[in-house]
Amino acid sequence: MKAVVIFESRTGNTQRAAEMIGGELRGAGYEVAVRPVHGLKLTEIAEADLLAVGTWVDGLVLFGHRPGGTAKLMTLPSLHHKPVAAFATYKWYPGNCIDQISDLLAYKGADVIHRRAFNKTQLDVLVPEFVDNVLTAVGARDMSEATA
Ligand SMILES: Cc1cc2nc3c(=O)[nH]c(=O)nc-3n(C[C@H](O)[C@H](O)[C@H](O)COP(=O)(O)O)c2cc1C
Repeated sequence: MKAVVIFESRTGNTQRAAEMIGGELRGAGYEVAVRPVHGLKLTEIAEADLLAVGTWVDGLVLFGHRPGGTAKLMTLPSLHHKPVAAFATYKWYPGNCIDQISDLLAYKGADVIHRRAFNKTQLDVLVPEFVDNVLTAVGARDMSEATA
């Protein structure tokens, strides 16, 4: 099973989250590539059984939240039929940013199986929980495909 963890990061927090997610997925038996949005290999995406896509929360603290690097995320290739987990890192308050990221990924054709915004100070606790939920969601998806 192959996974690609894709991130957009300005100061390194989302990259760190992406690398941690990659590590957890490796631990679960996946062959994992962790890539910045601008360094994607299309064959890796085409071959991936699972994707995770994350960025940082850009806003005015209490309002105006949007996915950081939205223009870059819009350059993602088609994610048609791919199970994709959405994540974000933030400092104070994420607003509905994770929903916006999910919408963007769904616009790209992704089947968004899980979503989570991480406070950047809590990655150690939140990332393993996120990956557990992602693996459960992938298992549930595979089961439903098998019985369809
Ligand atoms: C221009 C700018 C706007 C930000 N707006 C918010 C915000 O509205 N809410 C919040 O919780 N964090 C906000 N942050 C903090 C970042 O989302 C947070 O530090 C994030 O982890 C950065 O990720 P990165 O290190 O991958 O770039 C903002 C950061 C920047 C640079």
